[in-house]
Amino acid sequence: MTIRDGFCRLSAADTDEIVTLEKSCFSTPWTEEQFNLAFKQKIFSVFGFRVSDKVVAYIAVYHAAGELEILNIATHPDHRRRGYACKLLSMMLQVAAQMGIERALLEVRRNNHPAINLYEHLGFEAVGVRKGYYRDTGEDAIVYSRDIVVYNESLDAQISEDK
Ligand SMILES: CC(C)(COP(=O)(O)OP(=O)(O)OC[C@H]1O[C@@H](n2cnc3c(N)ncnc32)[C@H](O)[C@@H]1OP(=O)(O)O)[C@@H](O)C(=O)NCCC(=O)NCCS
Repeated sequence: MTIRDGFCRLSAADTDEIVTLEKSCFSTPWTEEQFNLAFKQKIFSVFGFRVSDKVVAYIAVYHAAGELEILNIATHPDHRRRGYACKLLSMMLQVAAQMGIERALLEVRRNNHPAINLYEHLGFEAVGVRKGYYRDTGEDAIVYSRDIVVYNESLDAQISEDK
């Protein structure tokens, strides 16, 4: 059997695995039907990180009209705080820059402090609020944005510092 550990692009064939991960990470997970529909759209992409051949983290995005919309990012509870989400999002921003995409956008629950810390750690800034956006709890969504061109310059600087 071929072991495929590391970063990878995920496809409709991986939907079962992504849905299982979704269920362990979100109170209102995307369903198999939602993923199947999304995978039919050219602007939808999913990247993952595999450990022992299992997807332990993933990011789902839409990319259109010069913008990258981050739909979901999640790491399995047993694999958190190991930098997987940070690496996936950084990689996604680099891919987007290569595609000529200039801005990344996302929405996050006001009380989702781990995710907010992750986004702010990567230079995202709060640019708006959608009041009562989440139907299950009535929680507000905070809209975060990141300029991708500026991101690459700072990432290069960060990589040089790390060497
Ligand atoms: C948010 C989430 C994706 C982070 O995944 P992760 O792989 O554990 O994150 P990383 O290890 O890459 O963490 C990167 C940074 O994010 C922040 N962070 C992550 N988890 C955190 C936590 N529990 N508390 C505070 N800050 C946290 C930290 O700044 C961290 O850097 P550090 O470890 O050097 O302090 C994960 O907690 C998760 O799947 N949550 C449930 C799903 C979700 O809410 N997704 C986001 C909304 S779409």
